[in-house]
Amino acid sequence: MGASSKKQDSEKASTERPVAVVTGGAGSMGTIICGALAREGMRVAVGYNRSGEKAKKLVASLPGEGHAAIAAPVTDSPALAAMAVEVSKRYGVCDVLVNCAGVTRFVPHGDLDSLDDDLIENILSTNVRGVFATVRAMRALLDKSKQAGGAVIVNISSIAAVTAMGSNVMYCASKAAVDNMTKSLARALAPRIRVISISPGVVDNDFIRSMDKKWLEEQVARTPLKRLAAPDEVAASVIAAIKHLTFTTGGIIPVDGGRPLS
Ligand SMILES: NC(=O)c1ccc[n+]([C@@H]2O[C@H](COP(=O)([O-])OP(=O)(O)OC[C@H]3O[C@@H](n4cnc5c(N)ncnc54)[C@H](OP(=O)(O)O)[C@@H]3O)[C@@H](O)[C@H]2O)c1
Repeated sequence: MGASSKKQDSEKASTERPVAVVTGGAGSMGTIICGALAREGMRVAVGYNRSGEKAKKLVASLPGEGHAAIAAPVTDSPALAAMAVEVSKRYGVCDVLVNCAGVTRFVPHGDLDSLDDDLIENILSTNVRGVFATVRAMRALLDKSKQAGGAVIVNISSIAAVTAMGSNVMYCASKAAVDNMTKSLARALAPRIRVISISPGVVDNDFIRSMDKKWLEEQVARTPLKRLAAPDEVAASVIAAIKHLTFTTGGIIPVDGGRPLS
């Protein structure tokens, strides 16, 4: 085989590799998920809001080719439309969308006054409307997926959706809304697009390590598997949802060490 036909073959292989878009891609969990997707051979668009530099550095460190840092501010629908145009120009398709962007702040559930309207607006517009708006913006590109079984949307939820125990009352409610949307969207977008929630318990990352130590120890003690989730375990469950759970849509997959059981 001549050098030019070898090059053509490798270019063809590279344009056939699935495209994954990850919102919050440069965050603690997003970074690990982007790495796992790239190791699976996907071309990864690392979506960022404020962390553009971090996203670019991440792109440079990912294995494989065809990755890109892309602005994906999920509370700004016109900017999401622009993101879809950029993804379309660059790749022409989106096979996997991981909605990982999310915000919260620790507020004791009994302290209603500290959960002020600004914080509520921020949580709901990012964690709930942001997920829907991103799916809405990306739907046409997801519909174009030629992967067997179609495209996959993975929503990063939380067991707080079910347990109502989490950083604050509205965060828990926002993740319950995400799980509910996962089901509605799974029905509405089938059979071309599957939609799955990955629902982690407390994940051992920078954000969580900044929380109250006593509270963290309590979470471990109350988890049947007696530890926090490793970020890699969350990423592995995202890969499982995409690659292995091919007859699952509308499912909420817990990655929580059994925390709701005790
Ligand atoms: N940590 C846990 O224990 C845990 C457990 C269960 C579920 N989760 C969920 O996992 C996801 C990631 O959390 P994390 O622990 O990795 O937190 P993190 O490090 O704080 O990351 C949050 C990400 O959300 C992005 N983001 C925030 N506002 C945004 C907006 N308006 N538009 C677009 N992106 C925005 C941030 O992007 P920029 O930095 O670019 O602004 C950042 O990448 C969240 O949905 C969270 O609710 C976390």
